[in-house]
Amino acid sequence: MGIARSAYDATWGRLFASMYDRALAGSEDAGMRDRRRDLVAAASGRTIELGAGTGLNFEHYPGAVEELLLTEPFPPMANRLRERTGGAATVIEAPAESLPIPDASADTVVATLVLCTVDDLPATLAEVARVLKPGGRLLFAEHVRSDDPSLARWQDRLERPWKFVAHGCRCNRDTLAAIEASPLEIEAVERGRIPKAAAIVEPLVVGSAVRPL
Ligand SMILES: C[S@@+](CC[C@H](N)C(=O)[O-])C[C@H]1O[C@@H](n2cnc3c(N)ncnc32)[C@H](O)[C@@H]1O
Repeated sequence: MGIARSAYDATWGRLFASMYDRALAGSEDAGMRDRRRDLVAAASGRTIELGAGTGLNFEHYPGAVEELLLTEPFPPMANRLRERTGGAATVIEAPAESLPIPDASADTVVATLVLCTVDDLPATLAEVARVLKPGGRLLFAEHVRSDDPSLARWQDRLERPWKFVAHGCRCNRDTLAAIEASPLEIEAVERGRIPKAAAIVEPLVVGSAVRPL
């Protein structure tokens, strides 16, 4: 890791982690919490969440989840995750591009507001396909590049400053196209919006993709 990156993580990154829940509270109260609950209701068996952040999905996991592994590479976020889960889930400090998890061992992978931030999205999706059992599912809720060319242009213009402010988030990423191009097959997808979010991170896709049998 470069010096500039570690200085950024130690200052703004730490602050970002400490402010995260408060920054999202308006959107969560206005509908994102319900989206999370509805999405993870489909999780079952051995479930792995990517970049779980402060653990905003944790309270929603259903009883059908037999084992919950929450991955998170950024230590200040991982610490919050441990506090929130109090030992009820396993926290693994690892990036989504390189999961220390055996092949074909997971029934469900969950990704919410994280595929915008991973450094290498194709590598992450290949890793999701690797760890899922055949027939296993990726459940996703991700903000994406807009279909509206005018808003997409603003997402392109503001990509760099937003990435700095939002700790690595790319507001213009076409995550749905990347899932379509991955080894996973999209089963269901719904377009929506993140309520009370900045316009450049409002367009949302929610759905599931399966590792083919
Ligand atoms: C916007 S937050 C989303 C947190 C959480 N998933 C949620 O729904 O609230 C993005 C998260 O991705 C994590 N992250 C950054 N790079 C990552 C990577 N390469 N692999 C996995 N997670 C990563 C960040 O540390 C942060 O916790």
